[in-house]
Amino acid sequence: MFHIRKPPDIAASEITPPEIYRRRRFLRDAGILAAAGITGSLLPAAADAGRKFPNLRKGPFSLDEKPTSYKDVTSYNNFYEFGSGKGDPSEHAGNFRTFPWSVAIEGEVKKPAVYQLEDLLKHHPLEERVYRLRCVEAWSMVVPWVGFPLRDLVRRVEPTSRAKYVEFTTLLDPAQMPGQRPGLLGAGLDWPYIEGLRLDEAMHPLALLAVGLYGEVLPNQNGAPIRLVVPWKYGFKSIKSIVKIRFVEKQPLTTWVRANSREYGFYSNVNPAVDHPRWSQAAERRIGEDSLFSPKRKTLPFNGYADQVASLYTGMDLKKYF
Ligand code: MTE
Repeated sequence: MFHIRKPPDIAASEITPPEIYRRRRFLRDAGILAAAGITGSLLPAAADAGRKFPNLRKGPFSLDEKPTSYKDVTSYNNFYEFGSGKGDPSEHAGNFRTFPWSVAIEGEVKKPAVYQLEDLLKHHPLEERVYRLRCVEAWSMVVPWVGFPLRDLVRRVEPTSRAKYVEFTTLLDPAQMPGQRPGLLGAGLDWPYIEGLRLDEAMHPLALLAVGLYGEVLPNQNGAPIRLVVPWKYGFKSIKSIVKIRFVEKQPLTTWVRANSREYGFYSNVNPAVDHPRWSQAAERRIGEDSLFSPKRKTLPFNGYADQVASLYTGMDLKKYF
């Protein structure tokens, strides 16, 4: 991945006055919190108090590992729509409008629909799951996500027998996303950002649609208001700020495969035995532990989730389908 370009200057006219920004953020959070079951009278207090989700239950597969600090999780990000530097997303995504937000369900499904996010969340109780996230750049984090299983949504929209893959699309909005403007800091990617899963991968109970982390509404830089989390695959599969979920017959052409199919594959399962052409994938740096003397950690097959997911790939040559 990951050519570095200089961030552009943001024009003063693009900067939303703080009171309007706070009001928008409040409305966004209020929508999500209302869907999570907070009553109207409690909303202002809850939204002010760190915008916490109430009564989260622990979901299955949650790890006992110590989470990476909130600060690192929310300030060391990849979100190329806001720039390719690790600090760019937290710096440039503050004014990103995530309310109102809708997600279109299209393609090979019996129940296509355009959902307002808060309506979508009414059907799906939220839970907390602490997952490892392994970036293809050989660093990792442990993140306490808030979300619901992707498969619950897939089941509800009833894929037809022709649906073999699921394609996810991020918002396209160059006015809000400086990385999508030509020639600036978007690292030469084609927009919008697209990712995909095989239908059986999307149905795996580990795959999560996340709307929060650390018990709070998702910060913009982490993919607000709704993003995918596929913990056994490299982090770039976990697409952010999703506006469309399309069920299709053919394997989707995903952003990183399109950018460089020699370096990035469709499957992108975490695999210490298959190096990236330009670096090893055998070990990883855990963000927050990276003093000069801290040893790297060994990368585990499927990012440590092999017991749960290896059977999805029985009989496949994972060197070929990397
Ligand atoms: N989604 C979009 N739309 N754009 C991106 O640039 N980066 C990916 C993924 N999802 C990315 C994206 C990469 S490379 C990683 S490692 C994770 O988001 C990082 O998620 P985090 O910032 O919440 O840790």
